[in-house]
Amino acid sequence: MSQLRVAVVGTGSMGTDHIIRINTRISGASITAIIEPDQKRAKDALVHAPEAKKFENIEQALASGLVDAVLIATPGEYHEAVIMPIIAAGIPVLCEKPMTPDVPSALRICAAEVKAGKKIIQVGFMRRFDEGYIELREQIASQRLGELLALHCTHRNPSVPDWYGNDMLIADSVSHEFDIVRYLTNSPIVSVEVKQLKRNKLAPERLNEPILVLMETESGIVAAVEMNVSVQFGYQVITEAVFQKGVAEIGRSSGMTTWEAGRSSQSEHTTYITRFARAYDDEIQAWVNAASKGGIGGPTAWDGYMSVAGVQAGLASLRSGNKEFATYEIKPTFYN
Ligand SMILES: NC(=O)c1ccc[n+]([C@@H]2O[C@H](COP(=O)([O-])OP(=O)(O)OC[C@H]3O[C@@H](n4cnc5c(N)ncnc54)[C@H](O)[C@@H]3O)[C@@H](O)[C@H]2O)c1
Repeated sequence: MSQLRVAVVGTGSMGTDHIIRINTRISGASITAIIEPDQKRAKDALVHAPEAKKFENIEQALASGLVDAVLIATPGEYHEAVIMPIIAAGIPVLCEKPMTPDVPSALRICAAEVKAGKKIIQVGFMRRFDEGYIELREQIASQRLGELLALHCTHRNPSVPDWYGNDMLIADSVSHEFDIVRYLTNSPIVSVEVKQLKRNKLAPERLNEPILVLMETESGIVAAVEMNVSVQFGYQVITEAVFQKGVAEIGRSSGMTTWEAGRSSQSEHTTYITRFARAYDDEIQAWVNAASKGGIGGPTAWDGYMSVAGVQAGLASLRSGNKEFATYEIKPTFYN
């Protein structure tokens, strides 16, 4: 296949960023279709993909013969309805996280993919493509500093949009840590306990945060995740790993330091779009390379389900204030 012809479903913040990425920095793919109900967003997106055609829904786009692969960047509650016709069509898809908002829908997607008999769903856990996380995972696996004992994870946003509700702290934001902690430790998360930290009065009234999410893996590692979406100053995702013989940290800003008027300062990211720019590029390039051969090049639908199951335990703890246990279905051999 010369150029992978990609349809993007949902051209808001993430969808538009992926369109720009695919049409400017990624090789082997171009955007040929978009699906977006908001007329203004659709129009804005088409500026970056002038060759693309706009469709009313995924079925029409698939029937057009213009689409070899699909990238889904709508909010999670719409993913299942878009993924099912794509599974039926048998073409590769990159679905932004969270794969779905709840466990039953995540399992329905896995079951449909297993039935269709081919792995075609990649879930957008781009942290797995971030240089820092890759290095840290290798550090943990090598045991050069001895056994991993604990993880301290920081996930901070300057602010969040109006539609971001309290459950999204877990369901949307910490969904990343439910994946990456399992990926770093190579062990599933067995329990989750959410603690309310002192409330930030600058947070919108509907949000009760920051929170501390304590995740314990089957291997006995506790990851303490500070989830904080009203820090005002910038966007930070930092991970510190504590080993028997040392400590490793990733994710500090490496922006330019300036010394001026008796003080030094360093620039900080203000959005995930720049913090993970390289990881998104690598994620999408890996997907395009694999999708051109009909497959996937990253986290599977089962990884999507495992994160959703962690989220479910996290939401239960957010409500009860207690430690809650995560339970999982048996992994189909298809995903081994
Ligand atoms: N991987 C990451 O780091 C990362 C970062 C941000 C967002 N996300 C994920 O990306 C997804 C989108 O987030 P966003 O911030 O871009 O949201 P957004 O609100 O900016 O954009 C979503 C778009 O989807 C459109 N939409 C809604 N229903 C649709 C449907 N049925 N068909 C087509 N379009 C539809 C909306 O009109 C909107 O334009 C979410 O799942 C979010 O969690 C991932």
